[in-house]
Amino acid sequence: MTHTLIQARGLSAGYGRMSVVRDVDIGVDQGEVVALIGANGAGKTTTLLALAGELTPQQGEVHFLGKVTHSPMHVRCRNGLGFVTEERSVIMNMSVADNLRLAGVGPQVAVEYFPALEAIMDRSAGLCSGGEQQMLSLARALGREPRVLLVDELSLGLAPIIVTSLLEEVRRTVDERGTGVLLVEQHIRQALAVADRVYVMERGRIVLSGSSAAVAGQLDDIEAAYLSGPS
Ligand SMILES: Nc1ncnc2c1ncn2[C@@H]1O[C@H](COP(=O)(O)OP(=O)(O)OP(=O)(O)O)[C@@H](O)[C@H]1O
Ligand SMILES: [Mg+2]
Repeated sequence: MTHTLIQARGLSAGYGRMSVVRDVDIGVDQGEVVALIGANGAGKTTTLLALAGELTPQQGEVHFLGKVTHSPMHVRCRNGLGFVTEERSVIMNMSVADNLRLAGVGPQVAVEYFPALEAIMDRSAGLCSGGEQQMLSLARALGREPRVLLVDELSLGLAPIIVTSLLEEVRRTVDERGTGVLLVEQHIRQALAVADRVYVMERGRIVLSGSSAAVAGQLDDIEAAYLSGPS
């Protein structure tokens, strides 16, 4: 039996009284990587913020681990939610090792995810490359063994080879541990290569969803219709 870890039902959310996303139904099961794609401004980050508890739903509800939740983000995080946000969330003037320790993740655990971190443990995070910083962010999040991980634009501005290695590590962890991952990603083809399912968002609504294979098969049309520019 599949087990849905996090789910939005009829979710509307936004800022002040303005709704940015409307009537969104989206869910992630155990052991799944789900991609959420859409043009700039479509409402992807807003959706993640509402799922995480950082934004209160204007309508609808969020279910987390089988129950409706109204708890704030830090409580959800204590109960098994991980969130890698759009801003690189590493502390720049601390070493890689101290960034890990602050998250309660041992340096040796992080190295199991990304061996490249071993050589830079004592380096100040601010001096690390963008890819190294994102390895650190992801190692911190995965090392806490979340049940559900929300990932917003992990690979913004990174070289394709780094994007692939970050996403493959996410996939491997999901397969090993049964985590559920919701991935917002601009590198659509690479996201589809690791995702099981995809939601396409346009102007705050889910306009399409399906298996990665089905979406990949009509990607040119989808890009032309929904992803070509700011909505
Ligand atoms: N704090 C805020 N206050 C008011 N409006 C906001 C705020 N944050 C985002 N918005 C607006 O909400 C809409 C959706 O933004 P959101 O960040 O969710 O989009 P996105 O799909 O993540 O885009 P991107 O791909 O550029 O990250 C945009 O029109 C944006 O201007
Ligand atoms: Mg965003």
